[in-house]
Amino acid sequence: MSPPTQMASLAVLVCLVCAALASDAAAVRVELTRVHADPSVTASQFVRAALHRDMHRHNARKLAASSSDGTVSAPVSPTTVPGEFLMTLAIGTPPLPFLAIADTGSDLIWTQCAPCSRQCFQQPTPLYNPSSSTTFSALPCNSSLGLCAPACACMYNMTYGSGWTYVFQGTETFTFGSSTPADQVRVPGIAFGCSNASSGFNASSASGLVGLGRGSLSLVSQLGAPKFSYCLTPYQDTNSTSTLLLGPSASLNDTGVVSSTPFVASPSSIYYYLNLTGISLGTTALPIPPNAFSLKADGTGGLIIDSGTTITMLGNTAYQQVRAAVLSLVTLPTTDGSAATGLDLCFELPSSTSAPPSMPSMTLHFDGADMVLPADNYMMSLSDPDSDSSLWCLAMQNQTDTDGVVVSILGNYQQQNMHILYDVGKETLSFAPAKCSTL
Ligand SMILES: *[C@@H]1O[C@H](CO)[C@@H](O)[C@H](O)[C@H]1NC(C)=O
Ligand SMILES: *[C@@H]1O[C@H](CO)[C@@H](O)[C@H](O)[C@H]1NC(C)=O
Ligand SMILES: *[C@@H]1O[C@H](CO)[C@@H](O)[C@H](O)[C@H]1NC(C)=O
Ligand SMILES: *[C@@H]1O[C@H](CO)[C@@H](O)[C@H](O)[C@H]1NC(C)=O
Ligand SMILES: *[C@@H]1O[C@H](CO)[C@@H](O)[C@H](O)[C@H]1NC(C)=O
Ligand SMILES: *[C@@H]1O[C@H](CO)[C@@H](O)[C@H](O)[C@H]1NC(C)=O
Ligand SMILES: *[C@@H]1O[C@H](CO)[C@@H](O)[C@H](O)[C@H]1NC(C)=O
Ligand SMILES: *[C@@H]1O[C@H](CO)[C@@H](O)[C@H](O)[C@H]1NC(C)=O
Repeated sequence: MSPPTQMASLAVLVCLVCAALASDAAAVRVELTRVHADPSVTASQFVRAALHRDMHRHNARKLAASSSDGTVSAPVSPTTVPGEFLMTLAIGTPPLPFLAIADTGSDLIWTQCAPCSRQCFQQPTPLYNPSSSTTFSALPCNSSLGLCAPACACMYNMTYGSGWTYVFQGTETFTFGSSTPADQVRVPGIAFGCSNASSGFNASSASGLVGLGRGSLSLVSQLGAPKFSYCLTPYQDTNSTSTLLLGPSASLNDTGVVSSTPFVASPSSIYYYLNLTGISLGTTALPIPPNAFSLKADGTGGLIIDSGTTITMLGNTAYQQVRAAVLSLVTLPTTDGSAATGLDLCFELPSSTSAPPSMPSMTLHFDGADMVLPADNYMMSLSDPDSDSSLWCLAMQNQTDTDGVVVSILGNYQQQNMHILYDVGKETLSFAPAKCSTL
């Protein structure tokens, strides 16, 4: 994994003009690295771990959805689970680099802070200590970003599915950008959470999280960035870094066809909802009810796009149609992969070196835009080095939530090799096929 080297090369910068991105001419370019499986971890464990984490996130959404004011975002546990994208940024003065999960499915920016003597998880970078930074301040009591309003200076217990993290809020100067000093921007006064106790976390890959959701606490909102984009390299490519661009000049310059679809209005939500009206496999439109992905007035249902979830999760009605269509095209023996992989439709390849059969692309029909997923974006090969067998699985799942929240999630496995632009100002998502390793 490349992060440590990258961090060492992140130069200490002097703040020249601390322009917020809203007024800054250039986009900030940040490299994203994918968390890869420990070499000793088999592919099956890899997916199982990713799914396990996705379930935690889902539980967190449930909590967020049930909160009375509807504005609390759910944090995601940084774990050693592969499939997450980490961005390097630096906190404080002097800037202390750290790695954080880049997550469009949550809001809060947070990192662990010293003193953290009791319940802190192991992190890959030195612990940030507010008292060693000349730019730390406690969040002012009258800040609209206070999680404890109208009370002030509280410790806020951010709970999620099977754990929690305990934060107090401060403001700091953050440094963004890649290892090229000319690309770096320092922005003062960003509200963030300092965590000094957590439970249910097991991380050595990340030291925190950067929420890129729609709520007021997210990095996007606090920077006033009108748009941002990312391009995620394929899972099999363990060498390349992905790219996140934040700011007015984030754009899709790709020569390919750019498609755009409006976000579905959801005033009280931090998520980016999309209007998915149907799914085709090859040229066959699947018989999915048109309202299967509708966001309902009570806030349930809908489909969100999320950089922090790995495997796409569909409501069961739609999932069963996708599953049946894939099953009907593949003549290989099926195997119940769920025990080994957590994925429920898997095929057995004759040997670990067999190439999977060719499959047509799957098209997600969004309002005004078709997103074409080549087979590699919806089927996943999982080889097990301990046996000469290999599984080939549908990299999608049905929602197992029975409590009614049942939001469908477009995960990052399906977003590989696509340049995706979130235009917050224009309320649209645009995307174009791209070779992300060369962006
Ligand atoms: C966390 O920080 C708060 C505020 O400084 C302090 O009251 C609390 O004791 C700390 N908890 C731990 C476990 O260090
Ligand atoms: C918050 O309080 C400070 C000091 O009391 C004041 O200078 C500032 O204008 C206030 N901000 C808002 C948004 O009310
Ligand atoms: C945070 O909330 C969780 C779940 O309610 C609870 O188990 C945990 O003890 C709380 N942590 C703190 C520090 O209060
Ligand atoms: C964290 O994960 C590692 C590797 O998967 C495991 O060996 C360790 O027991 C886990 N630690 C905790 C506290 O769960
Ligand atoms: C990644 O880099 C290693 C070592 O440089 C090389 O052997 C491997 O082929 C590369 N993999 C890809 C997918 O480019
Ligand atoms: C797109 O073009 C603009 C203007 O030439 C440039 O600033 C930006 O970095 C380019 N974006 C990408 C992803 O190449
Ligand atoms: C979703 O798209 C369809 C087809 O374009 C349109 O009829 C419908 O009104 C859209 N729904 C929302 C909530 O925007
Ligand atoms: C999810 O799909 C599996 C297998 O296709 C099925 O057995 C299960 O009942 C479904 N779960 C839900 C919650 O619909």
